[in-house]
Amino acid sequence: MKRSTIAVRVNLLSSNHEELMELAIRRGFIWPSFEMYGGVRGFYDFGPLGTPLKNKIIQKWREFFVLGEGSLEIDSPTIMPEEVFKASGHLEHFVDLMTECEKCGQAFKVTELVKEKTGMDVEGSPKLELEKIIRQHEIACPECGGKLGSVFEFNTMFRTVIGPGGKRVGYLRPETAQGIFVDFKRLWRQAREMLPFGVAQIGRGYRNEISPRQGMIRLREFTMAELEVFFDPEGPSHPRFSVLGEDTLKLWRAGREKIVDMEVREAVEKGVVCNELMGYYMGLTKRFLIELGIPEENIRFREQTERQRAHYSKETWDAEVRTERFGWIEVAGIAYRTDYDLSRHSKFSKEDLTVFLQSENRRITCHVLEPSFGIDRIFYCVLEHSYKHDGKRKYLSLKRELAPIDVCVFPLMNRDGLPEKAITVHELLRKRKFSVVYDASGSIGRRYARADEIGIPYCITIDHQTLEDHSVTIRDRDTTKQVRSSIEDLPSTLRSLLNGELEFESAGTPLTK
Ligand code: GLY
Repeated sequence: MKRSTIAVRVNLLSSNHEELMELAIRRGFIWPSFEMYGGVRGFYDFGPLGTPLKNKIIQKWREFFVLGEGSLEIDSPTIMPEEVFKASGHLEHFVDLMTECEKCGQAFKVTELVKEKTGMDVEGSPKLELEKIIRQHEIACPECGGKLGSVFEFNTMFRTVIGPGGKRVGYLRPETAQGIFVDFKRLWRQAREMLPFGVAQIGRGYRNEISPRQGMIRLREFTMAELEVFFDPEGPSHPRFSVLGEDTLKLWRAGREKIVDMEVREAVEKGVVCNELMGYYMGLTKRFLIELGIPEENIRFREQTERQRAHYSKETWDAEVRTERFGWIEVAGIAYRTDYDLSRHSKFSKEDLTVFLQSENRRITCHVLEPSFGIDRIFYCVLEHSYKHDGKRKYLSLKRELAPIDVCVFPLMNRDGLPEKAITVHELLRKRKFSVVYDASGSIGRRYARADEIGIPYCITIDHQTLEDHSVTIRDRDTTKQVRSSIEDLPSTLRSLLNGELEFESAGTPLTK
């Protein structure tokens, strides 16, 4: 995935975005990192609520792309020696074009600056062309109005040294994929020497962005979820293609004006996408994003032009999600990497990375189809799309299984033995492995509002009737409706509600307000 594209830049701050960010920081979803030392752009901490939300998004990805696909998963180092990136082409090609202000010294990523000032998408344009555009449009330093210097290449990998002495150069990985390619020989055996097979890796990636200014959208350290699917180029088919062949995708082909709706099958048959695997993983990506709560109409696929594509890719489709604050943003890239990586690693390491296909009596170098996801951007999109502000109430309508906290327990009043009873219910649910909090402060209305604001799907209230018949009320976040259920049934009822196996109306006796 090339993380440089923000398809439409909306310059006006949206008040919803500001409100959401205020909420996200105040309630502990995300925090700018190193705040006490003035902060550093491009780094965010995930707080006590953001961490479980992010983990649940990752778990969903694992369900779709690892468990659902029968993929292998590995976990390799984030620091890799220089040889790896010489072979992978990152040392040579993983560069952004930058310029510096001759007056104040501020650095800028040229493609972003040009986009901001002229609206032109100049991704992949050569240096001289960009210098010409800067001159023609009289683009000056946005900070001080000073003259901008020449355009030059900046490799965005973080360089380090491995061990004392400084002799062994290493880099923080810009993608998890290389850890998979360098393990290919062992993975082939683990996959029982049969194609196609997929290998996933979820972990941190690093890019020393020139001047990140879009909050969580452009990070210097981020979480990626990548799948490398190895296949025979003579048979790029997917065994379960029929499952989603009829799904419709919004496709924006490179160089075309219009975006078209097309079924996955048709896109493959007409050669709009390069092969069945590409079509399949685009369809699966859309289903995954919908599962996270992104509305279908806000998902599209944009083909990268030759200039925009990464050096290893023959065809790339970006999955983009529409956001109110940033317009359409890329959240995943699905790239046909051909045999580029395996051939290069074979050449540079002198290891034979070809495989013998017994059934075909042929020796080949596997080709690779790679769906690669930016988890932090998806996290932002999930938050933005779940934020509801309907005049009376503000709440996060997060999918129940993504909510960082499952349930909140309240005593209706802080007397008459209600807090003690509420604490026993809280303990019961904690022991049954729910993520549960207890809240006894302020009015019941304020407690509901606090729970809604962070997307807790269900609130349990202990009242005087609880002391008589061991029943409690359960309140649904989205509808604010309530039902009465017995404490005995509460764990199984809540589990079924959270799994989506039970309608709220059937969870107990409805209460009229
Ligand atoms: N592996 C995809 C990327 O680096 O964006």
